[in-house]
Amino acid sequence: MYKIAVAGTGYVGLVAGVCFAAVGHQVTCVDIDENKIATMKQGISPIYEAGLEELMQQNYAAGRLAYTTDYVSAYKDADAIFIGVGTPEQSDGSANLSHIATVARQIAETIERDCLVVVKSTVPVGTNDKVEQFIKDFLINDVKVEVASNPEFLAQGTAVHDTLQAARIIIGTESKWAEEMLMKIYEPFNLPIVSVSRRSAEMIKYAANDFLALKISYMNDIANLCELVGADIQDVAKGMSFDERIGNKFLNAGIGYGGSCFPKDTKALEYLAKQNGYELRTVKAAIDVNTDQQTVLYKKANQRLITFNGLKVAILGLTFKPGTDDLREAPALANVPLLLAQGAELYAYDPVGAENFKSKYPEGENDRGSIKYVENVAEALEDANVCFIFTEWGEVKAVKPEEYRNLMRTPLVYDGRNIYRVNEMKAAGVEYYSIGRK
Ligand code: UDX
Repeated sequence: MYKIAVAGTGYVGLVAGVCFAAVGHQVTCVDIDENKIATMKQGISPIYEAGLEELMQQNYAAGRLAYTTDYVSAYKDADAIFIGVGTPEQSDGSANLSHIATVARQIAETIERDCLVVVKSTVPVGTNDKVEQFIKDFLINDVKVEVASNPEFLAQGTAVHDTLQAARIIIGTESKWAEEMLMKIYEPFNLPIVSVSRRSAEMIKYAANDFLALKISYMNDIANLCELVGADIQDVAKGMSFDERIGNKFLNAGIGYGGSCFPKDTKALEYLAKQNGYELRTVKAAIDVNTDQQTVLYKKANQRLITFNGLKVAILGLTFKPGTDDLREAPALANVPLLLAQGAELYAYDPVGAENFKSKYPEGENDRGSIKYVENVAEALEDANVCFIFTEWGEVKAVKPEEYRNLMRTPLVYDGRNIYRVNEMKAAGVEYYSIGRK
């Protein structure tokens, strides 16, 4: 078993650290945020993630997991240091690598024995070559240090499962020493390992995520055409899914992808291509379709209603998908300002995302309209003129078609997640619009 330090306790770092401890490694998670470290020491997870808190508590109690702001003590005698800090998108689409550079410098100045530095954060192809050189330039002690790439494919809400039962582990190394060590670290997971060069590993992360983003945008594009020609996107997807070359996942049309990965990784790869004098047309198309798709229902409703001014609008779901409190690139964030600018009175419901949304849109008057956060779906629907479904939470799916008719002033529903069958809504007397269906 190895002594591992993990830099950064966001989704990537914390989940990786906890899972390494769960398979028996000795792990110290490092973060600069003292409050976060103190909270985690009490067994509380800073993120909402199924099964994570239990694993944190078990492994902390077993002495395999520690949390600290003191990176020197964590790094100096670690066998391996995993970097899981953020690489936020900059205004031009490129990734901001300043957090990685900070950690790399700290590593260079503290390690006292041979150490493998493993970058889990998503970074542009070629970055890890630079990180290795950077660490070597600042290295104080005479020790061996190498950088490996080990991209992360976890989805929010299922992060622990996606790590412990990953479809594959990608490791990108430039030496036998690094490859063997990473293989041994991952041995207890008992998962397929794909061992490639560092640059290929970096590229696999983008290529895989952007392919999934493309798949979603493709289905959304086809869905929009389905509406125009009278076909049904769900039937079309079903018919496609039996072909194993296409597969039966990620074929759901909706109001576009959000989250911390697809929007950022598509733009970053497009930027990388541009920097290399190449235009990545497929990925650009995925981005363009997604941008339009996020407000496709707003545009439809706007035509139907003429204006939202003074209308009570029920918003069901604020997060970018169910099972998380994350709002990054959530369709709700694209639509809410448009509705407020028109003077709509919003009644928003989300089982876990409302608190985060409040920090962006505080309760009360906003722009020409107002926003109120309610405790349940019924409160949002009560007397509403129109309803938008942005996230397919279980609590939203549980609403029966009749409830829209009975609770709303006018039962007009725009469903961005195709939760209902068109016929059942019609039979219940609801005027219903969804994605890619008549
Ligand atoms: C994703 C990838 O799944 C993960 O492998 C990667 O490492 C990070 O990005 P995540 O962003 O957590 O994970 O969520 P995911 O469940 O993949 O959904 C992303 C977005 O796509 C959501 O907004 C979701 O609503 C949307 N989506 C997904 C669709 O619109 N249709 C689909 O068929 C699937």
